Amino acid sequence: NTKKITNICCIGAGYVGGPTMAVIAQKCPHIKVTVVDLNEQRIADWNNADLDKLPIYEPGLADVVAEARGRNLFFSTDVDKAIDEAEMIFISVNTPTKTYGVGKGMAADLKYIELCARQIARVSKDDKIIVEKSTLPVRTAEALRTILTSTGNGVKFEILSSPEFLAEGTAVQDLMNPDRFLIGGEQTESGEAAVQALVDIYLNWVPRENIVTTRVWSSELSKLTANAFLAQRVSSINAISALCEKTGADVDEIARAIGKDSRIGAKFLKSSVGFGGSCFQKDILNLVYLCQHFNLPEVADYWAQVVKMNDYQKHRFAKNIIDSLFNTVSGKKIAFLGWAFKKDTNDTRETAALYVADELLQDRAEIHVYDPKVTEEQIFADLEYLQTHRVGQYVEQGEIMSMDEIRSLVTVHNDPYEAMASAHATAILTEWDEFKSYDWQKVYNDMLKPAFVFDGRNIVDKKQLSEIGFEVYNIGKGN
Ligand code: NAD
Ligand code: UGA
Repeated sequence: NTKKITNICCIGAGYVGGPTMAVIAQKCPHIKVTVVDLNEQRIADWNNADLDKLPIYEPGLADVVAEARGRNLFFSTDVDKAIDEAEMIFISVNTPTKTYGVGKGMAADLKYIELCARQIARVSKDDKIIVEKSTLPVRTAEALRTILTSTGNGVKFEILSSPEFLAEGTAVQDLMNPDRFLIGGEQTESGEAAVQALVDIYLNWVPRENIVTTRVWSSELSKLTANAFLAQRVSSINAISALCEKTGADVDEIARAIGKDSRIGAKFLKSSVGFGGSCFQKDILNLVYLCQHFNLPEVADYWAQVVKMNDYQKHRFAKNIIDSLFNTVSGKKIAFLGWAFKKDTNDTRETAALYVADELLQDRAEIHVYDPKVTEEQIFADLEYLQTHRVGQYVEQGEIMSMDEIRSLVTVHNDPYEAMASAHATAILTEWDEFKSYDWQKVYNDMLKPAFVFDGRNIVDKKQLSEIGFEVYNIGKGN
């Protein structure tokens, strides 16, 4: 008695809600998909006729939106109406780290989730399937159920967990050809029917063997576990990079050598200035908090070390710049190539670039940033945010700078060559492909000498740059 779903809504039109629903709409023309958000500007941007103005930059996304928007894909601020009409409601709102009260700096802030649940409870007149798409602490479905059923109006809710595994920059590819979609549901007749209803949606383009079904708690916890494992790989290779720099070993050669072992695997072994992005740190801190809550201090400490190592890697990079520039960067022009937390995205949340900039600004460096996709407005917003939300072991005690001071020290450029002209050093913070093909001879001619390049992504050709005359520092490559 599985119901065929013809109307779904998604609360939250962000990095997950937007692309996920666009792909569902494109692949399921028979289903009406409405994506709603409180943020009017965001919805207006999703509805913009100019597809270059969509609020999120993802390769291939504009084409998907162009095909489905207005046909069976709609973006709206009328949350009540969308809830009322939908048979299945995805919750895809943000779940940031709490910045106040109990669990501050660690636990996931579930206030947006709770607000959604209260709104669904208030508006719903008929039975609905609720899908947790946001990343949530294990057992959140229990809290959702309590809120949803609190009105006592007889409406029945089935709660599924279907966390999202897409990575930014490859979101459309990941959604079109997922390694797996995961669905957690209750093992009751109605729970199994709800799982089947969602399986049927995914089956429109995903083979059955790539749709994994589990119990609710396993699904919720699988998401935190997946991100913890992925981040742990980056911290593990970054830990080895520090040892390489002391010993003359080469971290990329090591990654190649160990990655050939099929038990280890070749992916996600790229040493870097540190992982960023909205989720790795937040999700590990959330996992650590859960372990502490359930009185598992050894387990909590184990995972906490992944974040500590990442803080260390960002700090090590900044410190190396200061040390190499004769122990001070005060008044020195440092060019930043890249600000996004990885290539092919305009997302800057938790980007390593911000933390490196902050350490250099504490020493009064003049930072000149170029990023092909990130706006000047965003860069200043990030710097402003950090002044009041400093975390981590290295700059927590740093001086809080006024925006006037920051604006006097930071310049954002549209032309990379201008950003690097007359600079003492160029630091590569994001692995944008275009950085590889710059005219590095011209860059060298225009920089002050000695001209330093600190490659936080190991993307430029060290030999070629050294031959031009640069002093080149890589991650994890002993000199
Ligand atoms: P986001 O901040 O880009 O988007 C969330 C949106 O929800 C915002 O536009 C916000 O205005 C809206 N919102 C919040 N409360 C609302 C409410 N009550 N009613 C209507 N709209 C509301 O966040 P995101 O990056 O899309 O992440 C969403 C969730 O997905 C998080 O739990 C995150 O951990 C998880 N996730 C993110 C990624 C990623 O790559 N960004 C990948 C997998 C999972
Ligand atoms: C990550 C996961 O890969 C997704 O599966 C997950 O859905 C998502 O988090 C989430 O829950 O938000 P994302 O953060 O978008 O996706 O991007 P990643 O490709 O995982 O990169 C994260 C960070 O790690 C980036 O700063 C990247 O530069 C860094 N990284 C990644 C490395 O330094 N080395 C690597 O080998 C891989």
